[in-house]
Amino acid sequence: MTKYVINGGKPLYGTVPISGAKNAAVAIIPATLLVDGVCRIENIPQISDVTLILNILQELGADVRTVDRTTVDIDCTHIHNAKVPDELARKIRASYYLIGALLGRFGSAQVPPPGGCDLGARPIDQHIKGFAAMGADVDVRGGYIHAKARNGRLTGTQVYMDMVSVGATMNVMLAATLANGLTIIENAAKEPHIVDLANFLNSMGADIMGAGTDVIKIRGVDRLVGGAYSIIPDQIEAGTYMAAVSATGGEVLIKNVIPKHLECITAKLEEMGVEIEDRDDAVLVRSNGKLTRTNVKTLPYPGFPTDMQPQIAADLCLAQGTSVLTEGVWDNRYRYVDEFRRMGAQIQVDGKVAVIEGVEHLTGAKLRACDLRAGAAMVIAALAAHGTSEISNIHHIERGYEDIVRKLSNIGADIRVVVTPDEDQQTEANAG
Ligand code: EPZ
Repeated sequence: MTKYVINGGKPLYGTVPISGAKNAAVAIIPATLLVDGVCRIENIPQISDVTLILNILQELGADVRTVDRTTVDIDCTHIHNAKVPDELARKIRASYYLIGALLGRFGSAQVPPPGGCDLGARPIDQHIKGFAAMGADVDVRGGYIHAKARNGRLTGTQVYMDMVSVGATMNVMLAATLANGLTIIENAAKEPHIVDLANFLNSMGADIMGAGTDVIKIRGVDRLVGGAYSIIPDQIEAGTYMAAVSATGGEVLIKNVIPKHLECITAKLEEMGVEIEDRDDAVLVRSNGKLTRTNVKTLPYPGFPTDMQPQIAADLCLAQGTSVLTEGVWDNRYRYVDEFRRMGAQIQVDGKVAVIEGVEHLTGAKLRACDLRAGAAMVIAALAAHGTSEISNIHHIERGYEDIVRKLSNIGADIRVVVTPDEDQQTEANAG
C-alpha cells in the first residue's frame, strides 16, 4: 500500500506551478474523436484520469503519441468503432463524453455507464434528454448505454437543461458540433472548462457561440480539421494550493493560473483573513495561519466550486468562530468529515449543511482518502496539523493532482510517499 506521510505544522514558502485543468482535459481528449487529422493538445496534466481516457481512445483505435511531458498528438481519423471497451470506461466519470463525441461522429455510440467519485446520486438524464431531443434513441441494455441517431446524423434543436450540469452541457456541445443545423442549449453551465471545450472545438473549425453564458448556440458543421490547442490551467488545483497556504501560513506564488477563474475562491479566503495579490498569470497568497470564520455555499460557476468544498472545510476547521458550509451541488459530499474528526475537528453535518466550530489546532492522525477532493483536503489538514499524519488510498488524489508530493515538498512541506505491505486490498473503483 502506498501512503503519504506528512509531518505537519510547517509554513509553506516558494512557488508552485499549476498544471492543465483535469476537467477540461477529460472532455477535450474525447472531443478529438470529432476531428479529421492530428490534434496536438498542450498543457495536458499528468494524472491518472488523463491516462485512462487516453487509453480508452487508443483501445478505440486512435493514434496517440506523446510529444513531451505535457503534449500529446491524437489522431482519431481512422477509428471505425463506436463501442467503448467496458473495463476502462467504468473507472472514470468522464467516459460519458464518449457518448456525445461518438454519436456526433458516427451517429451511434455504445458506452458503459460512467464511474466516478461517490458524491451521492449522479444521474445522466439531462445528457440523454439532450441526445433524444436531437433525434437519438437512447436505451440501456446488456450493461451498455446504446445511442443511435434515427436519421444517421443528429439534428440541431433547442435543449433546455432542468438543472445546471457541466457534463450535460459539454456532452450536448460535443453531439451538436457535427449535427445538422443549429442547437441551442439553455440554462447551460458556465465553468471555465465549458469555455475551454468550446474554444478547442472552434479552433478545429466548429461554430459555437455563447460558451461561458447560460445560452450556448452551436451551428453544426460538416467537418473539423486538426490543429494545436493548449488546455487552460486547473482552477481547482490552484485553489487547493491557495487553501493549503492559508491553513499552514507562509507566502507562495501560485503560477500559470488565470486569476479571473480563482475570484470565487480568492473572495472567500480574503474574508478569512488571507492576503491574495493577483498578478498577470499568478496569484501570491500570504497567510499568517490565523483564519477567521465565514460561511460558504457551493454553486455552479461563478459561485464557489463544489470541487473546493472539502479543501475550504479544512481551512474552516482552523478558523476562529463558527462557520456554516452548505453543499449546493451534490447530495453527499461530506464523507471526509469522520476523518477530520479524528484530527480533532468540530463538525456537525445535517444533510447538505455542515456547521464547523474552529479549533486552535488539528492533530495528526491515520486518514483514508475517500475521493479526490476529500483526499486533497486531508493533505491540507495534515500539513497544518500538529504531529504526523498518514493518508492512505492516495490513488484517489493522484487522479487529479499532478506531482503533488514534489510540488508541496518544493515549497517546504514535509511530505513523503511510503510504500508498505498491503494492509487491505485497494478494491475501490477509480473515479472522476
Ligand atoms: C463535473 O461532474 C465534474 N467532473 C465534477 O468534478 C464536479 O463536481 C461537477 O462537474 C460540478 O462542477 C468532471 O468534469 C469529470 P454535473 P458532472 O453534471 O458533470 C445533477 C472533481 O472532483 N445532474 O454538473 O458529473 C447532479 O446529480 C469532480 O473533479 C442530474 O441530476 O456534474 C448534480 O447534483 C467530482 N442529471 C448536479 O446536477 C444529469 O443528467 C451537477 O452535476 C446531470 C447532473
